[in-house]
Amino acid sequence: MKIFIDTASIEEIKKYLAEGLCDGVTTNPTTFVKAGILDKEKVKERILEIAKLIDPRPLSVEVTSENPEEIISQAREFTNWALNIVVKVTVIDRNGNSLLSAINQLVKEGIIINVTSVMTYNQAILTAKTLANGLQSANAKKPHFISIFAGRIAEEHGVQVAFNAIKNTRDWLDCYQINGVEILIASVRSPENVEYFSRAGGHAITIPPEALAKSLVSAKSKEGVAIFIEDARKSS
Ligand code: E4P
Repeated sequence: MKIFIDTASIEEIKKYLAEGLCDGVTTNPTTFVKAGILDKEKVKERILEIAKLIDPRPLSVEVTSENPEEIISQAREFTNWALNIVVKVTVIDRNGNSLLSAINQLVKEGIIINVTSVMTYNQAILTAKTLANGLQSANAKKPHFISIFAGRIAEEHGVQVAFNAIKNTRDWLDCYQINGVEILIASVRSPENVEYFSRAGGHAITIPPEALAKSLVSAKSKEGVAIFIEDARKSS
C-alpha cells in the first residue's frame, strides 16, 4: 500500500522522504491555506517545488472550479507544469451535479485524474466506471485514483460505514478486473483511522503529517528504549 503525505509543507515532505515513507503527495486548496500560501502565483510556485522534490512520485493538485469547461482547461494547464502532476476533480459540484463528463474527457486525453470528495460506494463504482472506460481510449501508463473520504464518512456514519465503502469498492474493482484505477483512502484524521482504514483494501492512503507522526509513537516503545539506554550505561 502506498503512503502519500497530505500536505503542502516542504519541510514535512522532506522529513517523510528522508524516512522512506513518501510515495506521493496530495494537496487541496485547504492544505495551501494551512501552509500559509494564499496568493495564486505562490500556490503555483509551491506546486512546482513539490513536484520537483518528489519526482517521479505523484503530486495531486485540485482544480479550483466547479464549472466543467474551466475544470478541463485548468487540468490541461496543470499537466503542463510537471509530468508527475495528478489532477484532482470533485465527483460532483456543490449542487450535486455530476462532473463525470469533464473527468471522462480528461481521462480520454491521457490526463491522470484523482477523483476527490467521494463519500459513498455508489459514487466510487460509478467513478471507477468512467475512469475505466476513458482508459480504454487513452494509453495511460499510470493509475487514476478515487479518493474515498473515510474520515468524513466516519464523522457522519461511523468508521464501519467508511471501512465498508473502501472494502466494497475494492471487491468490486477486483471482481470486474478493473485495472488502472486505484483507491486512495483520504480524509484521515488520526492514528486510529490509519490503523483501521489501512486494512480495508485501499491501494494507497494519504495521511496528514500530524497523524503520521503520531502513528509512529508509542509510550511503551519510549519506555523500552529508555530502559535499554539506561542499562547500556550500567554495563560500560
Ligand atoms: C486528500 O487528497 C484530501 O483532499 C484530504 O484527505 C481531504 O481531507 P479533509 O477531509 O480533511 O478535507
